[in-house]
Amino acid sequence: MGAIKVHDKSFDIYLSEATIQERIGELAASINRDYAGKRPFFIAVLNGSFMFASDLFKQLTIDAEICFIKLASYKGMKSSGNVVTSIGLDDDIFGKDVIIVEDIVDTGKTLHDFLPKLEHQQPASMRIATLLHKSEATTYPLTLDYVGFDIPNKFVVGYGLDYDGLGRNLKEIYQLAG
Ligand code: IMP
Repeated sequence: MGAIKVHDKSFDIYLSEATIQERIGELAASINRDYAGKRPFFIAVLNGSFMFASDLFKQLTIDAEICFIKLASYKGMKSSGNVVTSIGLDDDIFGKDVIIVEDIVDTGKTLHDFLPKLEHQQPASMRIATLLHKSEATTYPLTLDYVGFDIPNKFVVGYGLDYDGLGRNLKEIYQLAG
C-alpha cells in the first residue's frame, strides 16, 4: 500500500510497520537499560499514543506501570493553541520515575503546558518518550529523552495518529502528499 486517501487528502507511505516496530524495540531496549532496578510509571497521552504506548510497553522486561491521560490541542490540521485536559491523572506520581509517552511532538506546546502540572506533584524524575518529533516545528523548549523518528514538518497519519478522526487504525505512518 503506497498511497492512501483520508477524507479529502492523499497521503504517501512514510514509515513501514517493520521500521516502526524495529525502532520501538530499540527505544524499549534503552529504557530497559536506563531503568534497570527501577519501576518507571508511564503516562501515555491519548488519543494518538495508544498504539505506540502498547507496543513499547510490551517490549519492556523491567517492572513498569502505565496510565493514560487525555490532552488535546488539535482540530483538523492546525493546533488550536489551547491545551485541554479531558481525562485527568488519578494516580499519585509523588516520588515516581515518570516517563511521558507521546505519539508526536510538533510545536511542543501540549507538553510544555502540561509538564509543570506534573512537576508540581514532585515525581522523582521525569522523562519524555515520543515516537515522532517534528523538530523544525518545535518552538517551545522541551527535552525529549527518547525519540523514535525526527520527521519533516509535514502532516502525518496512521499508527494512532489521525486526520479529523480517521487514519488511526493504519499500521504504517503516511505523510501528506505533495
Ligand atoms: P504540539 O502541542 O504542537 O506539540 O502538538 C502535539 C499534538 O498535536 C500531538 O499529540 C498530536 O495529537 C497532534 N499532531 C501534531 N502533528 C500532527 C500530525 O502531523 N498528525 C496528526 N496529529 C498531529
